[in-house]
Amino acid sequence: MLSMRNLAKAYYTDTIKTQALQPFDLEIAAGEFVAVVGPSGSGKTTFLNVTGLLENPCEGQYELDGINVEKLSDKHKSKLRNEKIGFIFQSFNLIPELNLYDNIDMPLRYRKLSSKQRHERIMDALTKVGLASRQSHFPAQLSGGQQQRVAIARAIAGKPAFLLADEPTGNLDSKMADSIMQLLQDINNQGTSIIMVTHDPQQALKAQRVVEIRDGIIAEVADYAKAIA
Ligand SMILES: Nc1ncnc2c1ncn2[C@@H]1O[C@H](COP(=O)(O)OP(=O)(O)OP(=O)(O)O)[C@@H](O)[C@H]1O
Ligand SMILES: [Mg+2]
Repeated sequence: MLSMRNLAKAYYTDTIKTQALQPFDLEIAAGEFVAVVGPSGSGKTTFLNVTGLLENPCEGQYELDGINVEKLSDKHKSKLRNEKIGFIFQSFNLIPELNLYDNIDMPLRYRKLSSKQRHERIMDALTKVGLASRQSHFPAQLSGGQQQRVAIARAIAGKPAFLLADEPTGNLDSKMADSIMQLLQDINNQGTSIIMVTHDPQQALKAQRVVEIRDGIIAEVADYAKAIA
């Protein structure tokens, strides 16, 4: 589980300080599906990057599965991220020169896994997203929805405890978006915690909890269905 206490993040440029996230407390238990909503520029991506150890908070305490993150070296942080966290980005972030199989293999190569174990994980992940027969294709040969499926396969092949998704359906039409959401719900039902940024209220409604960020202020929305009615 994730436990954040007084966590805050500011960005500094030459003359300007941007307080991207005001100090907040948040706990996310194992197995939860949390949607993160809020206007553009409110701090959603910053929150996901701090949660996923891609960026360091400026203040506060952060425990990830009982491990005190602030005290870790960058090397340990990368290892923890690789083992515990899967990322899904709005723009898929696949490597164009690699076929689907090798795209999924890439992060696995940093793990202590045999090539047989990696092969099993890659094929299992590709099968789960319905693209096993396309393993030798390149990203450019796929539709947007299929590319997002590969990105999800890459994230789940690492067997992460937490899946972080930044607008995973933002670039997709509504039919593809619904099928990606269904896939994420299936993954969540199998035990992976999911934190998903979305601007689509209909997708946010499918989460168990909704957290809203406004001007860097994070607040739980008690009854989201009522809030958007
Ligand atoms: N690397 C950075 N350096 C300086 N300021 C930044 C940096 N990244 C983000 N910010 C600022 O922090 C604030 C929050 O940005 P963030 O990207 O988290 O917003 P967001 O909610 O994800 O927006 P969107 O919905 O448009 O993706 C914004 O004011 C942004 O300009
Ligand atoms: Mg963003």
